[in-house]
Amino acid sequence: MHAHTRAERLQTIGSAAAGLAHDLNNQLTLIVNHLEAQDLEAARAATRQCSDLVDALLTYSKGTVPDLCPIRPNTFLREFLDSLRLPPEILLVRSVLPNLPCIWADPVALRRALYNLILNSCEAMNYRGIVKVSASPMVIQVRDSGPGIPPEIARRAFEPFFTTKGDAGTGLGLAVVRETMRQCGGTVQLDPACKVGARFTLRFRRPDGKEPPADWRRRPSGFPS
Ligand SMILES: Nc1ncnc2c1ncn2[C@@H]1O[C@H](COP(=O)(O)OP(=O)(O)OP(=O)(O)O)[C@@H](O)[C@H]1O
Ligand SMILES: [Mg+2]
Repeated sequence: MHAHTRAERLQTIGSAAAGLAHDLNNQLTLIVNHLEAQDLEAARAATRQCSDLVDALLTYSKGTVPDLCPIRPNTFLREFLDSLRLPPEILLVRSVLPNLPCIWADPVALRRALYNLILNSCEAMNYRGIVKVSASPMVIQVRDSGPGIPPEIARRAFEPFFTTKGDAGTGLGLAVVRETMRQCGGTVQLDPACKVGARFTLRFRRPDGKEPPADWRRRPSGFPS
């Protein structure tokens, strides 16, 4: 392999490994919660999510593409949200329009991105408040009733390793969300005009049979190596 290509591949694996370590930590916290609540089925589901994440890293390291496919938002969100076991004082509200058109994404990566957003909301509200997940054509939104994100933090929130949580955060959650959306040709936006709490909007491409954007594999500037 050409030395330059190899260096790029190693950087990609490095950034994927950092993201994976972060997500496995999230999952381990959930598994401990499930075991404490003696919810073995939920613990099993979270364990399966861990092995999906490891598979995703192996896929990256072999240099293959993310597993993009058409996803039905209605079925996908129902299964994903039903599998969540959020803290008891978090009210999860769903507002999903019926019969939404398919979106183009990697289901494992999309679950991971939504987990990151929902966990951020729970953390921002100190595990007490409302998380609302809504879906309309080609769009999924996650919002919360927390304190919101002041402009000086919002400007940096997607930077890798930017965190306001000290040792409790790695600062990779939103960087991983942004990378996931870039890989499926979509975008993530933090609503600057949200009056209550924080609102993140994910916009997707249609599965129109076209290839993902030519630069999907390129590391975004500033992504950790
Ligand atoms: N829903 C939210 N409400 C308020 N602040 C938020 C919210 N989501 C993100 N933030 C802010 O954005 C920062 C970056 O978030 P990100 O998920 O990237 O890292 P983190 O949550 O700090 O760490 P990690 O995700 O690794 O546990 C957070 O530290 C927090 O200050
Ligand atoms: Mg986070």
